[in-house]
Amino acid sequence: MERLDKIISTGGGVSRSDARKLILKGKASVNGETIRDIAFKVEPKTDEICLFGEAINYKKHLYLIMNKPKGVLTATEDKNKQTVIDLIPDELRRRDLFPVGRLDKDTTGLLIITNDGDFAHKLLSPNNKIPKKYFVTLDGDVGEELIPKFKEGLTLADGTELSSATLEILKDKHTAFVTITEGKYHQIKRMFGIFDLGVNELKRVSFAGLELPEALLEGEVRELTVNELECINNAKIMTK
Ligand code: URA
Repeated sequence: MERLDKIISTGGGVSRSDARKLILKGKASVNGETIRDIAFKVEPKTDEICLFGEAINYKKHLYLIMNKPKGVLTATEDKNKQTVIDLIPDELRRRDLFPVGRLDKDTTGLLIITNDGDFAHKLLSPNNKIPKKYFVTLDGDVGEELIPKFKEGLTLADGTELSSATLEILKDKHTAFVTITEGKYHQIKRMFGIFDLGVNELKRVSFAGLELPEALLEGEVRELTVNELECINNAKIMTK
């Protein structure tokens, strides 16, 4: 059972104090009956909870997938710049959502957004070695000799030792797929920087075994399907 003010706040996309005010004003109902008790206990799975007469779509945890566009910050809020949270449509927007990990402002591609802290923690823990695959466009040709170096584990300019990574060079030699299992600051850019190669474009094409769906255009966000969520959860188990 959960408190009514919590459900109204989370499901209705309003702050906890606004939720309380709305309940006290008689704007909330449970199974057709107006409830003015903010601490009233409800069962979100079975009770019909309404705000302004409209049923609240309450799910304890929400799992979203975004195709992040360029120029948007991977942050929950920023005074001046647009964030990935700003791109979430109203019907999916909740106050407790946060991005799982970080993509640079100029990086595009697959980003998971959730309010499930345990889920995020498992995906981000380096011990779980969750694979993240990127499509990289470089400002020069990549030599085959880099493949074993990436595999052995690179050492960044500041001495940070990285885990094994997979480099797959494409025919044109200046584009490649790179798969890493960590998420150090500017990691891919710094990995190629060791070899004096600059990254012109970076796009995350897969995360935890889940590929960026082709139909999800840049800037779009939707809920993960049950199958997609299962795919991510299975990836965690396989890589442990
Ligand atoms: N590596 C980077 O350099 N940038 C990203 O956004 C992700 C990985």
